[in-house]
Amino acid sequence: MFVNLRRIHKIQIARLLTTALVLCVVMVCWEDLDHHVVSHVRSYSYRYLVNNYNFLNSTYTLDTDGHRRSIGNSLDSSSPLYPYLISQSDKCDSSDDVLLLLFVKSAPQNFDRRNNIRETWGNEDYIRQKLNANVKVVFVLGVHPDISERKQSQRLVESENRIHKDIIQQNFMDTFHNLTTKLIMQFDWAAKYCAKAKFVMSADDDIFVHMPNMVRYLNGLEEKHVENFWVGHVHRGAPPIRRKESKYYVSVELYPWPCYPDYTAGAGYVVSGDVAAKIHQAMQILNSSMYIDDVFMGICAQAVGVSPQDYVFFSGEAITRYHPCIYAEMITSHGHADDVKELWKEATDPEVEEMTKGFLSSLYCTTVKAALLCLPHHRDTYGCLGALT
Ligand SMILES: *[C@@H]1O[C@H](CO)[C@@H](O)[C@H](O)[C@H]1NC(C)=O
Ligand SMILES: *[C@@H]1O[C@H](CO)[C@@H](O)[C@H](O)[C@H]1NC(C)=O
Ligand SMILES: *[C@@H]1O[C@H](CO)[C@@H](O)[C@H](O)[C@H]1NC(C)=O
Repeated sequence: MFVNLRRIHKIQIARLLTTALVLCVVMVCWEDLDHHVVSHVRSYSYRYLVNNYNFLNSTYTLDTDGHRRSIGNSLDSSSPLYPYLISQSDKCDSSDDVLLLLFVKSAPQNFDRRNNIRETWGNEDYIRQKLNANVKVVFVLGVHPDISERKQSQRLVESENRIHKDIIQQNFMDTFHNLTTKLIMQFDWAAKYCAKAKFVMSADDDIFVHMPNMVRYLNGLEEKHVENFWVGHVHRGAPPIRRKESKYYVSVELYPWPCYPDYTAGAGYVVSGDVAAKIHQAMQILNSSMYIDDVFMGICAQAVGVSPQDYVFFSGEAITRYHPCIYAEMITSHGHADDVKELWKEATDPEVEEMTKGFLSSLYCTTVKAALLCLPHHRDTYGCLGALT
């Protein structure tokens, strides 16, 4: 009896100690836990239980008088806040069969990336001749953020544009926190100078676009006359990041809610022409102080009742795993610079395409894709669903 009591006592003490230890660990790690676990639990609950972002409309809609002239908002569609330095206004003239208007967000100093793109997936002539599609590629630039380098940089940009005639530029500083201004510029330009494009894409200058697959994919969509269409790598229930050190930090004043509306990763997404027009309208009346451009796109889309959809072969942040079976279906992959030439060779090589055709090959490819995409990995690349298509 006595012994028993002492044993119980011991067990209780052990429990107490364990609880205390766990509490200590939780307290020490709370900040991390809060950022990584709690904020996600909170945002997912919000996304899937409340799932209603109507409040965004009323919060971000500007009043009609006067207020629109503040940072980033244009007074009306004919006078953007920042004037165009290079406008390329006749790029889409004389062609009303533009399948895709492709905006590449680039910085003035990224000459090499632009040249790589012009020689590979952004080569309009190749696309017209070999893929039989009318795609317009436009590089979207602000001005060099460093005043001391701006003059020289501007001379280079202008001479580059005289050769290629594919740059548009407005007079704002090309910085991360001005990306929303750059987004507004894209939809402004599309509405003004290329309104008939069937699809509009926004892309980073460090992605790879598998243009033959893209053209095939868009032609399929066009046959179905899709409308109200927005596709990419969708983020659902993403929480705003409240750590001040983060590049993506957003203050509670700027965005008070625990969860963003659904949006597609800014690396590369496509909208149908009617959506581009609607988003452009929304941009005229919404407060554009949200400087994360893909989130601002989500807010605009919410205001006009458009929601994004996933297509598994659009990538998020990560670079795609290399394998011909995967490249046979990829649309975009993020995080490329110097290797785009090799990738382009693979993408346009008829032998690589042949390799993945036929029953045995497709069986083989399903296995390879399952192994590459479904086994756990850290990188945010195509989901496991990609193995099943
Ligand atoms: C955005 O560009 C404007 C105009 O050049 C500039 O005044 C502003 O400081 C820039 N904002 C940021 C956050 O870089
Ligand atoms: C836009 O929102 C920001 C942050 O909430 C606010 O400071 C600013 O005054 C708003 N601008 C307008 C024009 O309403
Ligand atoms: C507000 O949001 C809904 C979608 O949730 C949308 O249908 C509506 O048109 C939006 N805009 C306004 C101005 O109410």
